[in-house]
Amino acid sequence: MNLSTPSAALHDKDRQYLMHPFTALAEHERKGPLVMVKGEGVWLEDSEGRRYIDSMAGLWCVNIGYGRKEIATTLHDQAMRLPYYHSFSSMGTDTSILLAEKLIELSPVPMSKVFFGNSGSDANDTQVKLVWYYNNARGLPQKKKIIARQRGYHGVTIVSAGLTGLQSMHNGFDLPLPFVRHTTAPHRLWQAEPGQSDAAFVARLAADLENLILEEGPETVAAMIMEPVMGAGGVIVPPPGYYAAIQAVLDKYDVLLIADEVICGFGRLGTTFGSEKMGMRPDLMTVAKGITSAYVPLSACILSEKIWQGLLLGGERYGAFAHGYTYSGHPLAAAAALTNLQIIEDEGLVAQAAARGELMHRLLRESFADHPAVGDIRGVGLMGAVEFVARRDPATPFDPALKVAGRIARAALEEGLITRALPQGDSISFSPPFVISEEETAEMVARARRAVDKVFAGLHAEGHWKG
Ligand SMILES: Cc1ncc(COP(=O)(O)O)c(C=O)c1O
Repeated sequence: MNLSTPSAALHDKDRQYLMHPFTALAEHERKGPLVMVKGEGVWLEDSEGRRYIDSMAGLWCVNIGYGRKEIATTLHDQAMRLPYYHSFSSMGTDTSILLAEKLIELSPVPMSKVFFGNSGSDANDTQVKLVWYYNNARGLPQKKKIIARQRGYHGVTIVSAGLTGLQSMHNGFDLPLPFVRHTTAPHRLWQAEPGQSDAAFVARLAADLENLILEEGPETVAAMIMEPVMGAGGVIVPPPGYYAAIQAVLDKYDVLLIADEVICGFGRLGTTFGSEKMGMRPDLMTVAKGITSAYVPLSACILSEKIWQGLLLGGERYGAFAHGYTYSGHPLAAAAALTNLQIIEDEGLVAQAAARGELMHRLLRESFADHPAVGDIRGVGLMGAVEFVARRDPATPFDPALKVAGRIARAALEEGLITRALPQGDSISFSPPFVISEEETAEMVARARRAVDKVFAGLHAEGHWKG
């Protein structure tokens, strides 16, 4: 492996050979990539030697920060001892068994079994297969529809992309598949009536869900999938009482709850799981990202005893469970996960995420509340977003063609900050590694404010914003 390729050559080779995910392809051909070559703590360094605070922990995932030697040592030792063996046909590896035990111990509600995959997307596809198999085994072959929420993000595989409630992920892909339905997002800024109380808003959201289930026919609705706090859809924290009201509707119509914990799991909200923080009682949970802090790919479906018993019943009817990946329970990934979870425990990083989250939210409010284009500052734990609007009252979005959040994310790069323009509306998000210091948290928010000021000065000069 030759890692001494000069930066300019890397840029050329990238444009020539690499297709990037979630990238404007033609624009990328013209402009080329930003290439990261090093990381330490919350800091990244690019191929030109510029340094950035990574306020997104990669893609909401490098929770223990970059450059952790413990994980590198674990990967080295495991690769020397046993780099790979599979889990098909009752075979297995020690690290995947120990990790499954750990996940069941950590689960916020009693859970029974763990099924490993490689990404959040494939795990959510697996969840749908598990739910279908379960209902077929129960003799309920009609009960197959899956409800998700507008703005929810569940991945990009053929099922998961459809569950994702963001139009840009359906366009051009003939999605969603016909068994998917979406219900209202619990997003106060755009969905609540002006002055509506939380209680009235929650009652409306629960009624929307119930009406959808009744329209479809409860005998056709199998499960609902929800992120405890929506990530990519806008860092949307539902109002108090929301999950209790939603759960009551699901229970009434025998609809399973899948908690997509891909971002929230393992501490992001200041509790080990988002379900714990938000009061969800899932039948199935999806985890990925933070399980290894993204040092290597790994995901898992965690299922309750009720689901497990259904799968056993299915076995009597269909024979051996015919689903799984070459890399299900990969021993390197499982070893990295065990070390990662140990680091989180030993260093008290869940509590630290809660504490740094409080600081981050206070600083975001202090820094942005007075800005006339800020429509909302929200979040929980170490996950936050600032949403920009053309007018505050009534809330009016900017023309999407202005790409306000995209401009801010680009201006932030010039300030040495990585933030993310979320795909719907004009929100920028913050989800740094849990190891961020107080000083780095303050620096992150200060850099974000400078980027925002630059962009709004530009919009003002162009006549797109009056201020
Ligand atoms: C909540 C949630 N679910 C699923 C996924 C998909 O995970 P992956 O990109 O590993 O397929 C993501 C990725 O951002 C996510 O945020």
